[in-house]
Amino acid sequence: HTYFHKDEPLKGKNVLITAGPTQERIDPVRFFTNHSTGKMGYAIAEAAHELGANVTLISGPTNLACPNGVHIINVTSAQEMLEAVLANFERADLVIKSAAVADYRPKETFVHKRKKQPGQWSIEMERTTDILKMLGERKTTQILVGFAAESEHLIDNAKKKLETKNLDFIIANNIIEEGSGFKGDTNKITTISKGGEIKEHPLLSKKETARTILNEVIPLLERMR
Ligand code: CTP
Ligand code: CA
Repeated sequence: HTYFHKDEPLKGKNVLITAGPTQERIDPVRFFTNHSTGKMGYAIAEAAHELGANVTLISGPTNLACPNGVHIINVTSAQEMLEAVLANFERADLVIKSAAVADYRPKETFVHKRKKQPGQWSIEMERTTDILKMLGERKTTQILVGFAAESEHLIDNAKKKLETKNLDFIIANNIIEEGSGFKGDTNKITTISKGGEIKEHPLLSKKETARTILNEVIPLLERMR
C-alpha cells in the first residue's frame, strides 16, 4: 500500500489543468490570440497522469496530441474556458492554470467577414473574466496553482498575483529570457509558495519542469488529507 502511493502519489486525485492560448473572435476569418503553444500544460497533464491522477485537461487551440489517459475538453475562447473550468472545479483536488487566457476580447463580433475599407480600423476591446481569480474566490479544499508570465519584475509581480488571486502556489516565468516561456521545449521557472518560499529552478525541459512543479505541489495536497 505504501509502495503504491510512492509510485503514484496522485492516485485517486482529480487534477484539473488548463493549457494553451485562447482565441477571441473578431469575424469569421480573424481573431486575437497569443504565443502559447500549450506544451507546458500538456506536459503537466501527462506527468500528473503518470503519477496516478485522474486528469482533465481544458485546452485552447494547440497543435498537440492529447496525452494518453488524459480526458481533454477543447475550448476556443476565454469565456468557453471559464465555463468548462467552472463545470469541473468543484470535484477537483488540484487545479493548475497554465493557459495563456486572453485578457481582452473584441467588444463586438461580426457574423460576416468585415470587408477592407479605406483608412484605419480600430477595434474596441473589453476585459474577459479572470478565471483564476474567480476560482480563488470560490475555492474550498482545492489546491490552486497559477502561472505568472512576466517580462520584468518577475518575483514582485508573481507574488502580487499569488496574493490577489488567493493561490496556494505560483510558477513565475520570465517570457523574454532565452529558453524560457512560450516558445521551445525548455523552461526556466521560479516557484513561490503561499508561505513565501521562493525557489529558482535551472533551465529544464518542459517535461522535467512539469515533474518539478508536481513535486513541489504534492506535499500541499498531502497536508489536506
Ligand atoms: N488567468 C486566468 N484568466 C484570465 C487571465 C489569466 O485564469 N482571464 C490566469 C492564467 O492562466 C495564469 C494567471 O492567471 O495562471 C496569470 O496570468 P498572467 O497573464 O500572468 O497574469 P494576469 O493576471 O492576466 O495579469 P497581466 O497579464 O496583466 O500580467
Ligand atoms: Ca494576462
